[in-house]
Amino acid sequence: MASTITEITSRQLDTEQFINDKIRDIKDTVGDGTAINALSGGVDSSAVTMLGHRALGAQLKTVFVQNGLMREAEAERVVGFFQELGVTVEVVDARQEFFAALKGVTDPEEKREAVTQTFYKDVFGRLVKSSGARYLLQGTILTDVDETVAGIKRQHNVFEQLGIDPQEAFGYNIIEPLIQLRKDGVRRVGKALGLPAELFERIPFPGPALAARVIGEVTEERIETVRKATVIVERTLEDTGAFQYMAILHQDRVTGMRDGKRDFGQQIELRCWDSVDARTATPTRLPFETLESLAGEIISEVPGVVSVTYNIATKPPSTIEAI
Ligand code: XMP
Repeated sequence: MASTITEITSRQLDTEQFINDKIRDIKDTVGDGTAINALSGGVDSSAVTMLGHRALGAQLKTVFVQNGLMREAEAERVVGFFQELGVTVEVVDARQEFFAALKGVTDPEEKREAVTQTFYKDVFGRLVKSSGARYLLQGTILTDVDETVAGIKRQHNVFEQLGIDPQEAFGYNIIEPLIQLRKDGVRRVGKALGLPAELFERIPFPGPALAARVIGEVTEERIETVRKATVIVERTLEDTGAFQYMAILHQDRVTGMRDGKRDFGQQIELRCWDSVDARTATPTRLPFETLESLAGEIISEVPGVVSVTYNIATKPPSTIEAI
């Protein structure tokens, strides 16, 4: 259960000792077998990839699952970063499987479950079987466990704390070296592992990816809408120092006007958060000019959008992602 996980706060964390301990644990667990790990390019999975690489070298196979829900040019960018670090990453195209699993699903928790099952059971089940690996190395952190156990959100990567045995459910074991840390600690470990700042300073990004930012049904077209808005939001807000920022596509349409005609169009909600560890968060006091410029760019560059809003609620009761 969650209570058996002892938190290591960023203040307590000795990164060198942590890295050495985890490398030893991973080596002991995997022995002379092989492990596989899923790199999404987020801070947590990037840190785990480097830890695994240091511990296992060629015994670790790292894959980037192209689920169709990622940000613009993400696969190329992440593979490129890791190539420079000497880590080979294989891209696995599973787009059709994810969109098929998400078809018609509108309930947030069912959507999370569809992503989880497709990822762990279908795609990874197959990869693990074909590679002969017995272990999946992944970057679950304590905040993921907390929220799942509290019943707030079923984070995509939490099993044991819910009484799910991955070996039984999916046919492999899961190793989670970062589970005692929160985001601030993971960033320090990532830096100490030699990740470039572009990776360890990246804003957090959720496992269910852009599917966590589409309210209502997730289709390729709706993901493309939120992906285009995300490019604008990330480009505009990258120097704000905010903890996390995002665009969310709403389900409801509103009446707008374009070229003098009625346009029953789509709505994008912007969120930008100040937070230390994602447990609580407050909306960043962005200058109104920044919000206006974001709205202007989104409306002119993202087809079909007629409304842009900014969320000013705190977490709690809001959560950082909309799903
Ligand atoms: P929420 O939305 O619960 O998010 O306030 C807290 C932090 O966790 C990220 N997040 C996830 N990370 N798997 C993850 O690895 C998930 O399923 C998931 N859902 C949310 C979110 O982006 C924020 O930083």
